[in-house]
Amino acid sequence: SNDLYLVYHGLFLPKLAHSENSLNYFEKFVVQDDDVFIVSYPKSGTTWMQEIIPLLLNGGDLTPVQTIPNWDRVPWLEETRAAVVMDKLSSPRAIVSHMPYHLMPSTFFSSKAKVVYIARNPKDVVVSSFHFHRMASFLDDPGTFEEFINKFQTGQVLFGKWTDHMKSWKNPDLGDRILYITYEELVQDLRGGIKRILCFLGRKLSEDALDRVTEHCQFKNMKHNKMSNYSLVPQEIMDSNKSSFLRKGIAGDWKNHFSPELEAKFIATINEEMKGSGIRFSWDE
Ligand code: PPS
Repeated sequence: SNDLYLVYHGLFLPKLAHSENSLNYFEKFVVQDDDVFIVSYPKSGTTWMQEIIPLLLNGGDLTPVQTIPNWDRVPWLEETRAAVVMDKLSSPRAIVSHMPYHLMPSTFFSSKAKVVYIARNPKDVVVSSFHFHRMASFLDDPGTFEEFINKFQTGQVLFGKWTDHMKSWKNPDLGDRILYITYEELVQDLRGGIKRILCFLGRKLSEDALDRVTEHCQFKNMKHNKMSNYSLVPQEIMDSNKSSFLRKGIAGDWKNHFSPELEAKFIATINEEMKGSGIRFSWDE
């Protein structure tokens, strides 16, 4: 919309982390069969997955999550940092992306790489995103919450519309290459969710290691992990006086932000756009 974003296939991407070069790298990237992709619409649990997945791939060794910042540990494939750190990753690599399915690099489609897709109640996504826009200098000022909702629902935000992202990744071609998991499921039963991911990845952990990983990945603990809480980012880029990146970590904070009228309107639009997609929302049950 302005000098903060570049527009890629109609999607707004912040120039702070995306460039023509990085998108070129993204498009030409050679996916390996043992790569594990974490895919999410922004503010749906990406950082959480950047903590959990490496631990499951390395037998529960906490060293990497305690010593490597999340953006280098599990790089975003579309961001400028990817080209710098990708070669340093050992296989199986964990890679994250916010891209919709149809924009993935061509080698992704012919590979066997697995995908963990994490989704979150869109009402909480928009709340989390609103506070993120307040604190991040590389994003547009969100305006009022109501104004921000309008931007969100018309796709004038990072990576476009939530409904488009959800629908794109619900593609039958993915078969059992993809695991759908929700933020809410992890909030309710983190250990159970982690076990589900572990099983999907075909990995095993001892009960002790599973306990250790679960404990480490709880919000109250992750919030203090400097390698994952974004406190290494300069204040001019993310202003922790305005909001925290690991802000509340709960399901249902939307109740503190939406009026009943606003919620009804928001949900009506979501339902209309999701009609016929066959996607049911666990958070509405
Ligand atoms: S981003 O910018 O797309 O990478 O953001 P993302 O990591 O997807 O989303 C940030 C929200 O996830 C919350 N979060 C967690 N919640 C519970 N437990 C753990 N361990 C955890 N880690 C991150 C984070 O607090 C943001 O949500 P809100 O609602 O703003 O607190």
